[in-house]
Amino acid sequence: MKTEMIVVDKNVDEENSYAQAVEILKSGEVVAFPTETVYGLGADATNFGAVSKIFEAKGRPADNPLIVHVDSKESALNYVQEVSPKALQCMDAFWPGALTLIMQAKPETFANNVTANLQTVGIRVPNHPVALKLLQEVKLPLAAPSANTSGKPSPTLASHVRHDMDGRVPLILDGGATEIGIESTVLDTTCEPPVILRPGKITKEQIESVIGTIRSSSGNKSNVPKSPGMKYAHYAPTAPLYLIEDEKALIEKAIQYVQEKGKRVAVISEMDYPLADFNFPLSMESLYASLRECDLTDADLILAPVKSSDQDQVALMNRLEKAADHKWFS
Ligand code: TXA
Ligand code: MG
Repeated sequence: MKTEMIVVDKNVDEENSYAQAVEILKSGEVVAFPTETVYGLGADATNFGAVSKIFEAKGRPADNPLIVHVDSKESALNYVQEVSPKALQCMDAFWPGALTLIMQAKPETFANNVTANLQTVGIRVPNHPVALKLLQEVKLPLAAPSANTSGKPSPTLASHVRHDMDGRVPLILDGGATEIGIESTVLDTTCEPPVILRPGKITKEQIESVIGTIRSSSGNKSNVPKSPGMKYAHYAPTAPLYLIEDEKALIEKAIQYVQEKGKRVAVISEMDYPLADFNFPLSMESLYASLRECDLTDADLILAPVKSSDQDQVALMNRLEKAADHKWFS
């Protein structure tokens, strides 16, 4: 399959690009598009065959359900039932935006591979002009996981999508760099109090200021995960990534130790380490791009300095810990 990539901005024939994307989606094929968090790989959430193509293109395990994207709160309410007052308050406060709400799905609404046969569904209204316009034009709910190969860092640039999906999807809409850089916060509103299943840019405190006390999922690996996606390897670069306490002397010692064994070291950090073979920036916006940059080098090992005492970077730490598979350099 040939993969076409179209830049969607005011300078090109916009209407034509959307019309093409809509036609492809309606014919049961997959289109990659930008959101404010990361790029998504979208398909008609009511069409089993179309949704299967997402799983195939990503190599995603079938028991990991997909997030459904809609253009408004009103659209979302067509697909769910027994919606809690707190879920409604969250929609009003955070949509469009980077908050996915888990709710009871109306039976027979979505293809059952969207929800991995669960009774619940995760829905959000993305806050990105391209995603919103696409949803408004296609008039369908779009199932859209991040547009990366399963296990790899999520794409924050159209070129990342092309790297992973070339030849696997017919169309990529290029809307430039995504603003937030990590995936949406996932909040389960089917329980009381509601639980954050995946931290994101929208914080526990921000949600609590609207609906009162909520809980954070421990993400305990040995338990049956409430959010199925939590049990799989995620965001992993090719070379092993290790977290290391953010102390300059400790990091320089680690770099030298690894280099003495004839290996090359990449550091993903807020500051550059001249000793390291490669340096890439560390922030919520740049993490995934940096992990992908490491894959383009011949680094044998990657270090990511973090402050274990820092409690206000919950979402970034969550992604780093998964990318490192919880390994610390020692
Ligand atoms: O920012 C985002 O959310 C991006 C963009 C494209 O919107 N999408 C995204 O989708 O990250 P995905 O499929 O890569 O992540 C979906 C997460 C997984 O951890 C999955 O297990 C969880 O949401 N999830 C989906 N439906 C669920 C459900 N019914 N119950 C519990 N967890 C669910
Ligand atoms: Mg993903």
